[in-house]
Amino acid sequence: MTTTATSKISVQAVHKVFPLKNDDFVALDRVSLDIADNEFVTVVGPSGCGKSTLMNILAGLETPTDGVALVDGIRVDGPGPERGVIFQQYALFPWLTVRKNIEFGLKLAGLGREERRERAEYFIRIVGLEQFADALPKMLSGGMKQRCAIARAYAVNPSILLMDEPFGALDALTRVTLQEQLLETWSREKRTVMFITHDVDEAVFLANRVVVMAARPGRVYDVIDVDLPYPRTEEVRLSPEFGELRNRVWHAVYHQTAGTHAGPPSH
Ligand SMILES: Nc1ncnc2c1ncn2[C@@H]1O[C@H](COP(=O)(O)OP(=O)(O)O)[C@@H](O)[C@H]1O
Ligand SMILES: [Mg+2]
Repeated sequence: MTTTATSKISVQAVHKVFPLKNDDFVALDRVSLDIADNEFVTVVGPSGCGKSTLMNILAGLETPTDGVALVDGIRVDGPGPERGVIFQQYALFPWLTVRKNIEFGLKLAGLGREERRERAEYFIRIVGLEQFADALPKMLSGGMKQRCAIARAYAVNPSILLMDEPFGALDALTRVTLQEQLLETWSREKRTVMFITHDVDEAVFLANRVVVMAARPGRVYDVIDVDLPYPRTEEVRLSPEFGELRNRVWHAVYHQTAGTHAGPPSH
């Protein structure tokens, strides 16, 4: 994998070992990955292959045992406002309304009342929560909570979104709607996105590029370009090209060769 000065995100030979009682556990084995500015990359792989560990390192919540993670060419050393993080569990403040949840990060960023209100309003509209702006999270469905979390992440204007299975807990229909909405927002409000999922369809539908990881040890197994046009409509989802890519990714995820650094069969 080549590293260029223009990479928005550059993961360079990142190694992560969790010391266990009897043995050391290699969660990430020299993972390298470059993500360009405004690129939408999905990461897919079996449970336990280190997806969350990789994301947490980029989020600055974990440190690599070896190797380095760079954002804008600077070593990641803790969380930062240029990186918005969205987890599977909505992580909204239950005592704050949708609007106040979205305004919270803006307050931390030092924005005045007027500007906070305006930005929150704008992103509430973008994710279609106008009717629920003054509702508490407990009054929202799972999908609406996640839309609120997305609006909150977008509002602080991070140049990077790190999303760890954000739609994992949602039913299939809500999931598809949110996928389309996320792409719509992404095309309007360009961001660099790393989106983790274990859903192969979702991985292909969203991405410019799908990174397939393998487990034991956690590593990059294959990287597959998705040359499908945006907007990704239902027509795209039902196209033979989509089907072909999905099969390729599916095969890479579920027919991984066991053993260290085994790569995929040549395509
Ligand atoms: N803090 C930790 N201590 C020990 N092992 C961990 C820790 N965090 C993750 N792991 C292990 O590392 C592996 C990768 O975990 P994770 O990154 O959560 O995988 P994924 O998100 O792909 O399911 C798993 O086997 C997990 O049990
Ligand atoms: Mg995970």
